[in-house]
Amino acid sequence: MKKIAVFASGNGSNFQAVVDVVKSGELETEISLLVCDKPGAYAVDRANAAKIPSFIFQAKDYTSKEAYEQAILTELKRYDVDFIVLAGYMRLIGSTLLGAYQGRIVNIHPSLLPAFPGKDAIGQALAAKAMWSGVTIHYVDEGMDTGPIIIQERVRLEENETRDSLQKKIQQIEHKLYPEILQMLLTQGDVINVTKARAN
Ligand code: GAR
Repeated sequence: MKKIAVFASGNGSNFQAVVDVVKSGELETEISLLVCDKPGAYAVDRANAAKIPSFIFQAKDYTSKEAYEQAILTELKRYDVDFIVLAGYMRLIGSTLLGAYQGRIVNIHPSLLPAFPGKDAIGQALAAKAMWSGVTIHYVDEGMDTGPIIIQERVRLEENETRDSLQKKIQQIEHKLYPEILQMLLTQGDVINVTKARAN
């Protein structure tokens, strides 16, 4: 069974969704570690409640991205982690982790990429008065939300859409879609298999 590490910076509702499906047996993986760059983040409380070890760090305590990613890598090796799942981790992944986990890092983003990359995708969609937004799950490369797309699901913005209502709709999709795609990726392998599996 593959072992994963989830990276989060905040509330951790996507992390929780993954924890829940692992517990229920719908997702066949072991969550070996939570990696978090914000000591007070609620995601850490969720990890403690689920008895999942966490590695918590602050970028400012290290001289460079390479230095903190080296520290993360040491932990990933210690726990024998096969696959990295970004779930609201608000940092760009650098060459140290990309080199070690080539093709084995995925991210979830609250927009239909390439539209509204980076921070506050929900605010960006509202400000642009977009008719559609949604959720993207993609492989991670060195860019900001630029890696190969695995799947997207769209959401229609209503005329009276608010930040809260849009966030709720998007997160509802995220919490269902991420576990489903992770199950495919962790048991079947690459993106081509995923595309085929959904077409059948
Ligand atoms: C999620 O909506 C995720 O898509 C987004 O952060 C939120 C984290 O929520 N990620 C990004 O914007 C990445 N660029 P959560 O902490 O409750 O899972």
